[in-house]
Amino acid sequence: MKKAATMIEAKTKEIIKKHGGDKSSLIAVLQDIQEQYNYLPKDALATVNEEMEIPASRIYEVATFYNTFSLNPRGKYLIEVCAGTACHVQGASRLMDKLQRDLEIECGETTKDNMFSLEEVRCLGCCSLAPVVRIGGDIHPYLTQDKIPKILGNYRKQG
Ligand code: FES
Repeated sequence: MKKAATMIEAKTKEIIKKHGGDKSSLIAVLQDIQEQYNYLPKDALATVNEEMEIPASRIYEVATFYNTFSLNPRGKYLIEVCAGTACHVQGASRLMDKLQRDLEIECGETTKDNMFSLEEVRCLGCCSLAPVVRIGGDIHPYLTQDKIPKILGNYRKQG
């Protein structure tokens, strides 16, 4: 465990250095950490705190404000079910129910095989395609429950 923490610390220092170590590069540093680990590990945030001399409260404020950041480990593919008005009206909650059943997880959780994390988001900005679900960055428009098993299967095949 200690070794993993040291490796995270070293990688985080490298990322901070790449961005010049200036306080104003906090978001860019967090983005790179998120990309590297698919979430923001505690040890990485502690390193940012020490190396960049940014208060932990400020780091957590930024980390929780932006949807792209996650403080918990995420699966390979993030499934974002849009719960904005247009998607809600078109049955987004039924899609969420189906995904929860098929993945055997609740919203906010990650599958045991670390393949999928399921989250709810507010308006993905393409309301005319409602209901919309974004998986691993891909928009799936006009989604219906019956299409879900095949779509999930395709992502599983990609590995
Ligand atoms: S409400 Fe779903 S994309 Fe806007």
